[in-house]
Amino acid sequence: MNILHVASECFPWVKTGGLADVLGALPEAQARNGESVRVLLPAYRGLAQRLGPLQVLAELELRGLRFRLLAARVTEPGSGLCLLDCPALFDRPGDPYHGADGRAHADNGWRFGCFAEAAARLALEGIGGWQPDLVHAHDWQAALVPAWLALQERRPATLLTIHNLAYQGCVDAAEFRALGLPESWWRVEVGEFWGSFSFLKAGISSADALSTVSPQYAREIQTAEFGQGLDGCLRQRGDQLFGILNGIDTALWDPATDPLLVARYDRRTRLAGKAVNKAALQAELGLAPEPERLLVGIVSRLAEQKGIDAVLAAHDCWASLPLQLAVLGGGDARLEQGLADLARQLPGRVAVRLGYDERLAHRIEAGADAFLMPSRFEPCGLNQMYSQRYGTVPLVRAVGGLADTVTDASPAALAAGDATGVRFNHSDAGGVRYALERALELYAGPDWAGLQAAGMARDFSWAPAAQAYQQLYRSLLRRGR
Ligand code: ADP
Ligand code: GLC
Repeated sequence: MNILHVASECFPWVKTGGLADVLGALPEAQARNGESVRVLLPAYRGLAQRLGPLQVLAELELRGLRFRLLAARVTEPGSGLCLLDCPALFDRPGDPYHGADGRAHADNGWRFGCFAEAAARLALEGIGGWQPDLVHAHDWQAALVPAWLALQERRPATLLTIHNLAYQGCVDAAEFRALGLPESWWRVEVGEFWGSFSFLKAGISSADALSTVSPQYAREIQTAEFGQGLDGCLRQRGDQLFGILNGIDTALWDPATDPLLVARYDRRTRLAGKAVNKAALQAELGLAPEPERLLVGIVSRLAEQKGIDAVLAAHDCWASLPLQLAVLGGGDARLEQGLADLARQLPGRVAVRLGYDERLAHRIEAGADAFLMPSRFEPCGLNQMYSQRYGTVPLVRAVGGLADTVTDASPAALAAGDATGVRFNHSDAGGVRYALERALELYAGPDWAGLQAAGMARDFSWAPAAQAYQQLYRSLLRRGR
């Protein structure tokens, strides 16, 4: 089967969050299963140079823009990366969505609207003789691909994966018109959304099937509490909405081989290994060199979603419980400021590094004792899986993929040897306090080692998800015939 993924991020080339990790790992897992896979990304500034030398596979023009399709590289037999080059849209400083000043580009709707239309055209015409049977579009940036394809009689099957319902890609009527989108799409049954046009909604209403990245989030987004205004539309498509849990790249995130760690360890050597990493992390971040103190880690985009305000509201805990906190994150200026203030108020106890740092992310996973995720909602979440693999006990709010991947340290689960972490219910100071107090109690008692060992024994590889997608793709192709 020929599968074309269309997305705005792919690790290691361009990443702002978990979407990139998924695109960096799933296509290769699919290729290992014998599928022929291509990933189509925008050619952001510098990307083509980093990937070169490149072959031009196709050229096309639309909306007054010229696009070149560049074949970048085959990462694994059967899996390749292609870039859609259009300097007017993508040759800019900053990350995929923001300029160098951290502000979102005002024309993101235009940029990704044109990208999606060009991608749809390539999906129909083929890529250098390679014809996709199925297009797998990810998030709002690619959500118009299935919408464009739905207008065609002979076309590849389409699947839209929702990695995060909070980002919907909304444009106003003028932008809608500038993009030349069909008038019939400005209807509540297609993409109209409270007086604007939502790319994500248009994709939801027109893709052959929908998926999201955990079974629990698939259920949650069909409720008013988590549906971000789209729950009705999602309920309508409920029989075609599937929750497929993400995996993690178990080669990249393996404490036994991780080149970014100070010391490598496995299940057998974890106590000694983690102690060395913890001491190095404390030293690097200027935390007090206290081997016995419970060190809590956070690596996160600093966005409303992640519940970082609850971490700040739990100020008392950081000030008075026998804990340390190490945070790596970037994003919302107010949260960055709040965290920087907390670190200044509690030197030696709280350390904060702002920005994006792959190396430190790995070192926090290895050096921390526990990992805190008080998310308001979490479609899947990857760090709780990385944590378990690194023998770092996750403390998670029981929502979305966090609920699907962490087994709470209840007496029954502890007795059965299944428990891997602490779950809590509220994304506020009370919830965080509850989680930290329980973690401290477990850390002081005999059960901590069991939590670490059970987490490290978990299998979070991509194999089950790759298989679930394969079955779904096949059912869509059968339906199309
Ligand atoms: P989301 O996609 O919502 O941000 P995920 O948990 O799915 O959440 O994925 C986040 C990914 O981004 C993880 O691989 C995490 O390690 C990484 N990450 C987040 N913030 C940073 C940062 N400041 N530096 C390095 N890696 C980060
Ligand atoms: C989104 C979600 C996150 C998920 C990731 C990859 O960014 O916020 O929970 O793990 O996508 O699917």
